[in-house]
Amino acid sequence: MSVAGNNLPIGIFDSGVGGLTVYRALHNKLPNEHFIYLGDTARVPYGTKSLATVERYAVENSVFLASRGIKMLVVACNTASALALPKIRETIGLDVVGVIGPGGRRAVEMTKHLPDPKVGVIATDATVESRAYLEAVKRVSSTTRVFQAGCPMFVPLAEEGWTNEPETYSIAEKYLKDMKIFAPHALVLGCTHYPILRDVIQATIGENVQLIDSGEATADEVAALLREKGLENPNEVSGRRSLCDDLDNFYVTDAAERFGRVAERFLGAKPSKLEAIEVLPV
Ligand code: DGL
Repeated sequence: MSVAGNNLPIGIFDSGVGGLTVYRALHNKLPNEHFIYLGDTARVPYGTKSLATVERYAVENSVFLASRGIKMLVVACNTASALALPKIRETIGLDVVGVIGPGGRRAVEMTKHLPDPKVGVIATDATVESRAYLEAVKRVSSTTRVFQAGCPMFVPLAEEGWTNEPETYSIAEKYLKDMKIFAPHALVLGCTHYPILRDVIQATIGENVQLIDSGEATADEVAALLREKGLENPNEVSGRRSLCDDLDNFYVTDAAERFGRVAERFLGAKPSKLEAIEVLPV
């Protein structure tokens, strides 16, 4: 890609607001890059939908972002990363990075020095059923044991901002009961919303368990890929950038006002450029 191509933004999509945690990690890691974020708020959640439906939505979102001019695509949704990466790669001729591979690799990295490494994964039911994290771990380590648990109610709790309520703690106790018996050394937050509930999850699973934010692991891999491909933006942004400033564009497929409110709760800032659009069938 030419140097002019290096100035293009990085596309990010999620089923809704959750991918903002991945956007935050990318923004912090890559201050010279610009981002276009698409939240498919009209069709969220993906975590309870079938493979065919998630694939179709994911491809439509990717084609929308590619049509805006991007140099790389980050699938900032665990469910879409688990189910739709091959279809997306088949459809758009760009580098595509999902969140599952980086999260799985980071978990192995953090635990490989232990004699019997054990990794826990919490995610939506669709991600758990896909076994994508199990496979991501198996690809880099045949000895690491993995135990998964679906925690679907964490998504609405994060969106409501219930990050310290007694109800959230008791739901976490219930979801993580078997996980505590498994006693992982590291626990992958395998859903975009879960970093918002980090404190509750840490308190419930125990302070000695290392929590792995797939978004942060993904940001590190995106930074390495940009370097390797010579795609870094050469124009240094002067001064400190803030999250959601006007260098980044945000699109949603519905309810822009609600997205702005939840973004403020997740990131402490409302997107300055936010627009509702329609993604077209491919
Ligand atoms: N973004 C989804 C994920 O990371 C969570 C919300 C949903 O189910 O769409 O799996």
